Amino acid sequence: MIKIAPSILSADFAHLADEVKKVTDAGAEYIHIDVMDGTFVPNITLGSPVVKSLRQTSKAVFDVHLMTEHPETQIEAFAEAGADIITFHVEAAKHPHRIIQQIKAAGCKAGIALNPGTSLAMIEELIADVDMVLIMTVNPGFGGQKFIESQLDKIHMLYHTIQDMGFTCDIEVDGGINPETSKRVREAGANVLVAGSAVYGADDVSEAIKAIRG
Ligand code: DX5
Ligand code: ZN
Repeated sequence: MIKIAPSILSADFAHLADEVKKVTDAGAEYIHIDVMDGTFVPNITLGSPVVKSLRQTSKAVFDVHLMTEHPETQIEAFAEAGADIITFHVEAAKHPHRIIQQIKAAGCKAGIALNPGTSLAMIEELIADVDMVLIMTVNPGFGGQKFIESQLDKIHMLYHTIQDMGFTCDIEVDGGINPETSKRVREAGANVLVAGSAVYGADDVSEAIKAIRG
C-alpha cells in the first residue's frame, strides 16, 4: 500500500499544528519530520521539543528523519516525544546495527537512510533488521531540489533484494517527489513517498496528495 508522507520542512513553521492537520485531513498517512543539525547537513531545523508539542495536536504517524551526526544521542528523546518511526543515515553511524536495536528498544520502528552517493552494499547486512529503508533522491539538507534520476536503479535493486530475501520492509523515497517522479519511483518499488514542496506548495493539498499517490 502506498503511503504519503508530507514533509513539514516546506510548511509554515509559525503554524505547524495547523499545517500538520491540513495534510492529515487531506489523507496523508505519515508526517515526515526533517531533523537537521547544521553539521551532517548545512541547515538547522527542529528538535524533539517541537515533536513533543505537535504530538499533543495530532494522531498521525510521525516519521522522523534524522539528518544528524551521532544519531545515537537523539533516539530516546525523539521516542519519548512521540516519534513512531525513526530513520537515521548510515553515513552518520559508526554502529548502525546497534542504533537499529536502540530505536526498537525505545518502542519505535527503525529506518535507515542512504544518500544518493551511497551504495546499497552499505546496508546489505541491515535490511533484515529494519522496518524501512529511505533512499534519498536528492542530497539532504534542503527542500525543493531536483530529483536525481540515477536513484531509480537503486530503488529497483533494493525492491528486488527485499523480495528475493523474503523481507517485508518498506521503501521510502525523499526528495524531488511530485506527481511525475512519484509514478517512476512507485514503478521502481517505493511505497512510502515523502513530498515537501509538491504538497505544501500546492494550491489544493488534497489534489496534490491524490496525484502523488497515483
Ligand atoms: C531533504 C529532506 C526532505 C525535503 C524534501 O533534505 O529530507 O524531506 O523536505 O523536500 P521536497 O519534496 O521539496 O524535495
Ligand atoms: Zn526527509
